[in-house]
Amino acid sequence: MRGWVTHLRSSGKVAFIVMRDGTGTLQAVLVKSAVPPEIWSRFAELTQETSISITGDVRMDARAPGGVEVGISNLDILGSSPIDYPIQPKEHGVDFLMDHRHLWLRSPRQQAILRVRHEVEQAIQDFFYERGFIRVDTPILTAAIGERSGLFSTEYFDEGTAYLAQTGQLYGEAAAAALGRIYTFGPTFRAEKSKTRRHLTEFWMIEPEVAFFDSNDNMRLQEDFVSFLVRRCLDRRKNELAELERDTSKLENVVPPFARLDYSDAVTLLQRKGSEIKWGDDLGAEDEALIVEEYDKPVFVMNYPKEAKAFYMKENPADPRTVLCDDCLAPEGYGEIIGGSQREDDYDKLLARIKEEGLPLDAYGWYLDLRRYGTFEHSGFGLGLERTVAWICGTPHIRETSAFPRLMNRLKP
Ligand code: 4AD
Ligand code: MG
Repeated sequence: MRGWVTHLRSSGKVAFIVMRDGTGTLQAVLVKSAVPPEIWSRFAELTQETSISITGDVRMDARAPGGVEVGISNLDILGSSPIDYPIQPKEHGVDFLMDHRHLWLRSPRQQAILRVRHEVEQAIQDFFYERGFIRVDTPILTAAIGERSGLFSTEYFDEGTAYLAQTGQLYGEAAAAALGRIYTFGPTFRAEKSKTRRHLTEFWMIEPEVAFFDSNDNMRLQEDFVSFLVRRCLDRRKNELAELERDTSKLENVVPPFARLDYSDAVTLLQRKGSEIKWGDDLGAEDEALIVEEYDKPVFVMNYPKEAKAFYMKENPADPRTVLCDDCLAPEGYGEIIGGSQREDDYDKLLARIKEEGLPLDAYGWYLDLRRYGTFEHSGFGLGLERTVAWICGTPHIRETSAFPRLMNRLKP
């Protein structure tokens, strides 16, 4: 076995090494009387994080972590580790841990979160593959702006300014007209000056886009999708959720259908609960937290006022002040994990919205073409990977869900 030392203890005659190899932890025992003196003496050189190679007999031992123990016959030191290893079994401040993120990843809690994230990513692929969706990878360097949040930009040769993609959606819509049901899955960027527990400047988003799908079909897909992701982690990541001390009984509730709350009813509910919100305002994090208190699984808030949402959302025929959209809010205070909508498929209405928002028309010619050549009812949504992982893991802050998170004030390591 090769790996890194995590814990050491010795009685002088018998020494225990707990090591980590990336697949799990293992306890190994070194008995002074059973090995040559030069092997026994190597134990004294070990420190936390020394990388080692051991050879020995494996035996069942219910008391050992992992249920087995190795009786060491040979021990080699592969890489020493000075005793000043920064992360010690004591309380460290978050800034210190973030500065040492490259080492912090080795701790059990961080490993567990990364494994849950990996499970969610694989489950996403499986969910859409099984349903016949085609994955389409969309560009990161773009000319068209998708959302209202802040933009990262860079000069792009003679073509002017390029923006880092805030969404793959607009390209996804073009692909849906070719392939019917597609999804994009990639990094997205928002230069948001938000120092909150749910904002990153770089995050991963899954964005399905479906032809001949209306807003109701869209919400049905979302509740199936979110429930699938949660179920998958409950089934396959029990140990990790236990390491994270996650109350999984709360996750067991996550099965379709999710409640659907009209925006206007949400405002009434919020006002009743003491919020200052007025009809027309977007919901803030605190408003979302107040709403989800009422539910033990995710809930949809639908049909927001036009001015609170993006230009591409379809006007609601039943109330043209609003658009056919939904936010899916996660329980336990987590709030928005999905933003979705039916898309405006009327050429003239879309053109008017682009003008109203002051967006550069020459960058949207191709997007308008989708409404000229065989326009079609279609809908889609974007699920934020890190917010979803944070909720499933029960981590208070989104930063732990990314191996190397990018925040407003953090570009290193
Ligand atoms: O609601 P948003 O802005 O929707 C879109 O980008 C649409 N184009 C999606 C679509 O219809 N195809 O973002 C979608 C989700 C949010 O619900 C949230 O989970 C996540 O992306 N998100 C963020 N996650 C982390 N940090 C940020 N700064 C985020 N901004 C959005
Ligand atoms: Mg949103």
